[in-house]
Amino acid sequence: MTTVFLPVLQDRFQRVHKYLRISVTDRCNFRCLYCMPADFNGFLPRSQVLTFEEIARIVRVAAGLGISKLKITGGEPLVRREVPALIRSLHSIPGVEEITMTTNGVLLGRYAQELKDAGLDRVTISLDTLKPERFDRIARGTGSRQDVLAGIAAARAVGLDPVKINVVSMRGVNDDEVLDFARLTVEEGWHVRFIELMPFPEEQNQDCHGGGLDGAYLPEAEIRTAIEASYGSLEPAEVPGNGPARYFRVPGSAGSIGFISAVSEEHFCARCNRLRLTAEGKLRPCLLQDDEVDLRAPLRSGISDTQLAQLFQDTVEGKRESHRLGLGVTPQLRHMSQIGG
Ligand code: GTP
Ligand code: 5AD
Ligand code: SF4
Repeated sequence: MTTVFLPVLQDRFQRVHKYLRISVTDRCNFRCLYCMPADFNGFLPRSQVLTFEEIARIVRVAAGLGISKLKITGGEPLVRREVPALIRSLHSIPGVEEITMTTNGVLLGRYAQELKDAGLDRVTISLDTLKPERFDRIARGTGSRQDVLAGIAAARAVGLDPVKINVVSMRGVNDDEVLDFARLTVEEGWHVRFIELMPFPEEQNQDCHGGGLDGAYLPEAEIRTAIEASYGSLEPAEVPGNGPARYFRVPGSAGSIGFISAVSEEHFCARCNRLRLTAEGKLRPCLLQDDEVDLRAPLRSGISDTQLAQLFQDTVEGKRESHRLGLGVTPQLRHMSQIGG
């Protein structure tokens, strides 16, 4: 008997999954203090990383199950060579409606046009501070702020719109820049999202000056209060996206202010529509829990498309209702950089 799959990935909590985040590499040219330990060098050998052909095969099967939105992540996705060729190949898969990328932006000046031509729809760029010395502290002396700013300009120039800026908000690190970012949404039409710091294993929360991120968590409510004290009430805004952000704007501004509040938003996970594929081929139902299903070994030992579809169904079937940060459960298996956010 042939197994016939309904073309949807619906879990036990009626959440339909249409969004797959694909990490194409665990490597990064930055070492941001909330993402990876300073001295980390446990990167995957090439042989353990999915090939572009393997990724395309997985996406073809996933698209048959209703996945239509793809996010390319890393590490830093643009450190993997030929990523535009991957975008081109994923773009041609029937059912794939949108491909986006989250990047640190440093190589975008070089690749923005090529990515756009390959079929990338838009980008999100991580930029936690506008201050040069602080940029160096957060990125632990790696990366170039000027190149990131040039990357943002290049992405806007070639129309990878809306270009979104991710700001991880951290008390005592960049909390005094909330209004500077808000001003850019008004004066420059930027789309800025403030992301609540999520806890990952402790040893990575050390910066290059020996300071840690203990106590750096900053809830959305405080950011919003600070912005509204200067700009008045924010109004809801519509911004294209598939993720968990809720969008607002200063009335009359062309840009937007988004919040991604996995820690303080009570029903954050009720809207979850996404799965994650790690660079080594683990399918992960939740960013913040260590459950994973390996796709690489079955793929390399000749699994059929039907069996691969079954692994997707099993993963979604086993997905938990929500993260358990409130119960003290944090990911232990991987750093953020190994999942892609
Ligand atoms: P778009 O708005 O469509 O671009 O998607 P997105 O917001 O999912 O994209 P992005 O990669 O910029 O995600 C922003 C960040 O929000 C991620 O890097 C994570 O830090 C966080 N995030 C996104 N999705 C989830 C999620 O499902 N759970 C949790 N806890 N955090 C998430
Ligand atoms: N908490 C919240 N967001 C994080 N990111 C990385 N690590 C963390 C963390 N600990 C986000 C960055 C980047 C994206 C890939 O993941 O903002 O935009
Ligand atoms: Fe989905 Fe897990 Fe994020 Fe909740 S924490 S929204 S279940 S990925």
